[in-house]
Amino acid sequence: MKKELLLELKNVSAGYSGQNVIHDISLLIDEAEIVALMGPNGAGKSTILKAIFGFITHTGSILYEGEKIYPSPQNLVKMGVAFVPQGRRVFANLTVKENIEIGGFSLNDEIECIRRAEHLMHLFPILSTKQNEYAGALSGGQQQLLSIARGLMTQPKLLLLDEPTLGLSPKVVKEIFKTIKDINEDQKTAILVVEHNLHSLLPITDRAYVLAHGKIVASDTGGAIAGSDILEQVFMGKI
Ligand SMILES: Nc1ncnc2c1ncn2[C@@H]1O[C@H](COP(=O)(O)OP(=O)(O)O)[C@@H](O)[C@H]1O
Ligand SMILES: [Mg+2]
Repeated sequence: MKKELLLELKNVSAGYSGQNVIHDISLLIDEAEIVALMGPNGAGKSTILKAIFGFITHTGSILYEGEKIYPSPQNLVKMGVAFVPQGRRVFANLTVKENIEIGGFSLNDEIECIRRAEHLMHLFPILSTKQNEYAGALSGGQQQLLSIARGLMTQPKLLLLDEPTLGLSPKVVKEIFKTIKDINEDQKTAILVVEHNLHSLLPITDRAYVLAHGKIVASDTGGAIAGSDILEQVFMGKI
């Protein structure tokens, strides 16, 4: 089956206080695809996600389903994009179930919200067993899964995930990647994921972009990137 183009960035530049930190970024995400965005600290990965979601302004073009868009978080949610930012942001004093349901507040439909939350529990069995516990009592990995589950409540076509495995043990990292793959297969969600766990991520990606100093320096299939020395060069600071 041929996949349709979902999101395209053409020559996008953006930054802070009038100073660009990402330059001329062009990238593509097809529907139901997993795309990785990689690069050292400070390369501009989070800034790209913030520009896509409309947290910061940009120059150049962002196209969604072939049409130029002017991103703002509310519009993006309506269009079917969800953003799970860096850091595990859960409401510690609410239960797991309540945290998930909050992700659907924009639906304005309590019954639909409960239905979706129940469906999501199947994708996240560990959250299902802990649904009445306080989110603050969960482990780091479980809190990360919870913030991803919350992001899925709007049934996005595209999920933006910023460093979902930061600070987690290798075993938990594996679980998070499995969940990402399950979401992609079960819900046909396209996922743009920022990651530093390159070797665990590349096998499940359709495409990967490597970023250095705010510019894309390589793009290819996950396999081709894994087989080249581009990541080593970038992470050693040679590019
Ligand atoms: N809110 C901000 N205000 C000013 N500069 C920022 C802000 N956030 C990030 N930066 C700068 O932008 C550059 C890219 O940062 P970022 O996109 O967070 O990188 P990455 O996610 O790849 O680690 C860095 O030099 C960082 O210091
Ligand atoms: Mg970042």
